[in-house]
Amino acid sequence: AQTTIAISASSNTSSPVISKYIYSHFAEHLGRGIYDGFYVGDTSKIPNTNGVRNDIIAALKKMKIPSLRWPGGCFADTYHWKDGIGPKDKRPAIVNKWWGNAIEDNSFGTHDFLNMCELLGAEPYLAGNVGSGTVQELADWVQYVGSDNKNPMSDLRKANGREKPWDVKFWGVGNEAWGCGGNMTPEYYVNEFRKYSTFMTGSGKIFRVASGASDDDYHWTETLMKGIPQSLIEGIAVHHYAVNWAKKTSATNYTEAEYFTTMKSALLMDTLVTHHAAIMDKYDPKKKIALVVDEWGGWYDVEPGTNPGFLYQQNTMRDAMIAGVTLNIFNNHADRVRMANLAQCVNVLQAVILTDKQKMILTPTYHVLEMYNVHQDATLLPLTIKSDDYAFGSEKLPAVSASASRDKNGVVHISLVNIDPNHPHNLSLKLDGEKFKGLTGRILASAKVQDHNTFDQPDKIKPEVFKSASIKDGNISIALPATSVVVLTLN
Ligand code: AHR
Repeated sequence: AQTTIAISASSNTSSPVISKYIYSHFAEHLGRGIYDGFYVGDTSKIPNTNGVRNDIIAALKKMKIPSLRWPGGCFADTYHWKDGIGPKDKRPAIVNKWWGNAIEDNSFGTHDFLNMCELLGAEPYLAGNVGSGTVQELADWVQYVGSDNKNPMSDLRKANGREKPWDVKFWGVGNEAWGCGGNMTPEYYVNEFRKYSTFMTGSGKIFRVASGASDDDYHWTETLMKGIPQSLIEGIAVHHYAVNWAKKTSATNYTEAEYFTTMKSALLMDTLVTHHAAIMDKYDPKKKIALVVDEWGGWYDVEPGTNPGFLYQQNTMRDAMIAGVTLNIFNNHADRVRMANLAQCVNVLQAVILTDKQKMILTPTYHVLEMYNVHQDATLLPLTIKSDDYAFGSEKLPAVSASASRDKNGVVHISLVNIDPNHPHNLSLKLDGEKFKGLTGRILASAKVQDHNTFDQPDKIKPEVFKSASIKDGNISIALPATSVVVLTLN
């Protein structure tokens, strides 16, 4: 059998642009995500800028991180931003009730985060507190960070050392309002959202994201789309993790059955996005409101010996598979999915970076994000795919996933994933409409799907030159190794 892919590359196709924000990330006050992750403090021996690790900044810039969501997650609905401004020694401490009851000393606050985003060249996405906060508190935060006029909040910001406002466009109105954000019904949350959103304007362009559905809670999306006037909302969220909640697996030591289950859960994202988008189409046929998948990724058992509340997990080629197929799904739904945030950036869940004291490693997931950054703000090239199966027992999944785009210079990129751990797959790829002469490629692969980078072997898995593709008369033949991610460049 052979997998076939047909790509429409003709320049007259009207296709959406793949928003670069699909490649965004998430950093919560959770475990070692911020403290002992991004932030080591300015007295640390680890080279840093205002307390933020320089090696992390450099790596994320290279990956082209477009936007970063903060401070949660569940933490967001316990966070009172005024606790995190002003002299650090005067800031009150709180208990981080969702994540191991850790003491949060608020030493990393609004200024620290927004200045860090400037260092990263990433746009901030602030998640406001609806669960235990007030409308006034969130309205004040919007003013504090973004107002240039003379008013109490901009005066306070200036007194705290920041003269000019930051450019904060993306705002979350609570998080998981159906759960840790307040256990609300969608009908109740609609009214909360309408109230909060009304008072969040007045300091430049704003993109307000409603706390969205968990997985296939389509009633949640329908209720929000029906009940929120379009003048008050720019995005609606959805969260989906690739996980078996009934029995999570080790991050590294998993069976093929567990791998198969994880991949099934990851591929479910396509169904979820398709159905949530169809509901949105009913109320918003012009697709003004974005679907924002602001939490996604693999979720496993924590590493042995680490705090169960800190969600620290290793990252193997399985995670590269999740990242590759999920980003292909988002690319192919670029008309509606206009932001997505991988959970989470450093030391938490499906991280792109892990740290251990002064050491830092890039995970297989990092490399996928870096390889795929060629799709950021490129025009989607629609494709049809007829994939071979990856069969396990009596079940099967499509072995190959793909997406394609054309960038501003006319260069075409095709990202391909073979999730089958047992077989390479041969692909025949036909590009309709154009002749390309040059073909190059990069591949991420390893002998076993459980393989991963460690602090002792940080470069076991890294992108290599891909040589198993050839082009003849517009037809490309590819031999895609088992559990590999490939990105082709055509010009
Ligand atoms: O990403 C970890 C947690 O998962 C987030 O805090 C919450 O929003 C979700 O349930």
